[in-house]
Amino acid sequence: MQVIHTIPELRDALAIHRQRGFVPTMGNLHEGHLALVKQARELVGPAGAVIASIFVNRLQFAPHEDFDTYPRTLARDCEQLEGAGCDIVFAPSETELYPEPQSFKVVPPPALADILEGHFRPGFFTGVCTVVHKLFNIVQPTVAVFGKKDYQQLMVLRRMTAQMALPVAVHGGETRRSDEGLALSSRNGYLSAPEKIEALRLSRTLKGLIARWQSGERDLDAMEADALQSLRDAGWAPDYLTLRRQHDLGPAVDGQPLVALGAARLGSTRLIDNLEVS
Ligand code: PAJ
Repeated sequence: MQVIHTIPELRDALAIHRQRGFVPTMGNLHEGHLALVKQARELVGPAGAVIASIFVNRLQFAPHEDFDTYPRTLARDCEQLEGAGCDIVFAPSETELYPEPQSFKVVPPPALADILEGHFRPGFFTGVCTVVHKLFNIVQPTVAVFGKKDYQQLMVLRRMTAQMALPVAVHGGETRRSDEGLALSSRNGYLSAPEKIEALRLSRTLKGLIARWQSGERDLDAMEADALQSLRDAGWAPDYLTLRRQHDLGPAVDGQPLVALGAARLGSTRLIDNLEVS
């Protein structure tokens, strides 16, 4: 496995590969990321190249967020990537990716990007789209894999890729969870041992929302208000807990595939999760 820090070196290394499977990450990797790397390998086959990027993207962090403290664990990440069958790690410095302030940006449509995560993290999806578009231009992958853990992100990036006619097939990977059911996340490392147990309440609450819908209730406002209150009662600060259509994240309606999505702060850690309704 090669670890490459500059764009020209990456382009040289990639020149011989036609099939390129790409997994963008911010590092501090766990089994969820590694599963995407393995999925990329399946998609490009043994002769293709699997590339993972590790870059903590300042553009997608608000000033009060955890950009400075976000865990940076490159050596360990590389060991794990090698074990997962990755061929090339692209780990650029900030000045390599942003040699001047990034003033050209990719701004996604408000209907998709200013709701849910985007409502509570203004500018987040502009930061994500800008860096992913730029990374796509650098890596020129044939296939890219993103996790369903960040459901809205996957949806925004699918639409960006389609609308910009980018020549890459975007695939979604299932959310990996701990044995107890906690969605794996780099931010779980911020949780204390008791918080890790309490954190399970987020997916339980999403399951409760789905159960009420499946039992025939249709007063979404009341159901969501109850879900928010139950997290507040347990000491959380929830941002949203909601049932939406999968295809555009609009309000849930009968007869269409749905997804329950939630984001909430437990102590100082912000957690997100979602469950598709089968
Ligand atoms: P990061 O949070 O490091 O996640 C990298 C990829 O791993 C994303 O596609 C994310 O959805 C996926 N992922 C995270 N946890 C997962 C889990 N438990 N199961 C399956 N997949 C999981 O998402 C980002 O970085 C950034 O926004 C990025 C796309 C790299 C742009 O900066």
